[in-house]
Amino acid sequence: MDIFTEDYAKQQDEQDPLRRFRDSFVIPTKSDLARKTLAPSTSHEAGQDEQSIYLCGNSLGLQPTLTRKYMQQYLDTWASKGVYGHFKEIEDSNLAPWLHVDDDVVEDMAKVVGALPSEVAVMQTLTANLHLMLASFYRPTQKRYKIILEGKAFPSDHYAVESHIRHHDLVPADAMVLIEPESPASPILSTHYIMSIIDKHAEETALLLLPGVQFYTGQLFDMVTITAYAKMKGIVVGWDLAHAVGNAAMELHDWDVDFAVWCTYKYLNCGPGSIGGAFVHERHGKVKETEGDNGQSKLEYRPRLSGWWGSSKSSRFAMDNHFNPIPGAAGFQLSNPSVADTTALRASLDIFKQTDMAELRQKSIRITKYLEKLLDRVAGEQEQCFTIITPRNPDERGAQLSVALKPGMLDSVMESLEEAGVVVDERRPDVIRVAPAPLYNTFHDVFLFAKHFQHACAKAIEGKGAQGQSVMGDGGREDRGWSEIK
Ligand SMILES: Cc1ncc(COP(=O)(O)O)c(C=O)c1O
Repeated sequence: MDIFTEDYAKQQDEQDPLRRFRDSFVIPTKSDLARKTLAPSTSHEAGQDEQSIYLCGNSLGLQPTLTRKYMQQYLDTWASKGVYGHFKEIEDSNLAPWLHVDDDVVEDMAKVVGALPSEVAVMQTLTANLHLMLASFYRPTQKRYKIILEGKAFPSDHYAVESHIRHHDLVPADAMVLIEPESPASPILSTHYIMSIIDKHAEETALLLLPGVQFYTGQLFDMVTITAYAKMKGIVVGWDLAHAVGNAAMELHDWDVDFAVWCTYKYLNCGPGSIGGAFVHERHGKVKETEGDNGQSKLEYRPRLSGWWGSSKSSRFAMDNHFNPIPGAAGFQLSNPSVADTTALRASLDIFKQTDMAELRQKSIRITKYLEKLLDRVAGEQEQCFTIITPRNPDERGAQLSVALKPGMLDSVMESLEEAGVVVDERRPDVIRVAPAPLYNTFHDVFLFAKHFQHACAKAIEGKGAQGQSVMGDGGREDRGWSEIK
């Protein structure tokens, strides 16, 4: 069947083993998005509504239907039990007593990143966790004091690293090694090139921090090879998994990663600013009881910034001011976690645990390839419009394709897409990021996106007075396949 037809997209959806999950999410309708109120003003408006084409899970994942149910249970528990909510099992609730909400999600969270449950903590937010990890893992010496990171790291990572360097009275210009692209023609950092930078600074480098998936280009780094290589050179390795978690299949434990941090509002669908996650390899989470000089027992553990929630559960409420870290990542926790956040994570993981990352990744590769083929077709017809900057090799990318528009087109393209009820996001000056999330996006979503995108490009080119006409007649709003339109 011709892949550029709507029928092909629908057929792919019928054969999709994950298609059942779409109904587990609330897909905003087109008028939901356009309206300035939460509720529809008329029942007519509510009834007549088409689902939007939401390809923005790389920024904010959609709401699972379970989230509202679990949130209501949390609110009802708080309302009806007050402080007893911390301790009491509630028979008609899916949620654990609040004292254990973090433990309750850890096992399922660990599966998503390929870790032992004891290696994962659900806590704070990504940047806060990065600070906590740097406080523990960045121990500069006179010889080894540099941190290697990308020149185009997400700003929060850059700031966090810079602040730790200053905190140790070191100079960022000397101690921060920024990996810039080999050539201005491509922002992609090849593994080989990253390894050459590691080689260049190996002797003086204390720590390497990279993203699992790069937020701007969508590049999926070869975490296995890079981790092994840097560790062989005596460098501590940390990963920012903001765009990788729930997107790429990972085996953090087996890969011997030292630490990793992530957020849960992108492919994990837990809502804006929701709780973060941290991985600490089991090697680093050990707590050993030894005999001190005075014959009294003392605890040996990795230095860290500590809080009461990281201290042993049995003595947490003893208020004796003896920090007794929980072995593993849990010993890095600071505060009692937000129950609203962990409730959203419980809802999300109740979906993830019905599948696994291998199955999600299989669909992700297929649907992203499909998006790529359609975009290539549009590019063939709208030559002046854009190029895909994400690697073409599916092993080197997740669910996101980043499209660099020709200068000056971004506003017009985004406006047309918004009018058509298509949600993607932009990174100025010229990039839009399009992410088919395998849990809830369909091949049909991708087909409709490509149609609207072709129209948006044609309109932007017309607006600029450049050559090139839309080949889609009325702008692709009709429900016809491309083959029929051409
Ligand atoms: C790659 C990356 N790192 C760090 C962050 C910062 O996350 P947070 O605001 O949750 O600390 C983000 C946010 O989108 C991100 O994309």
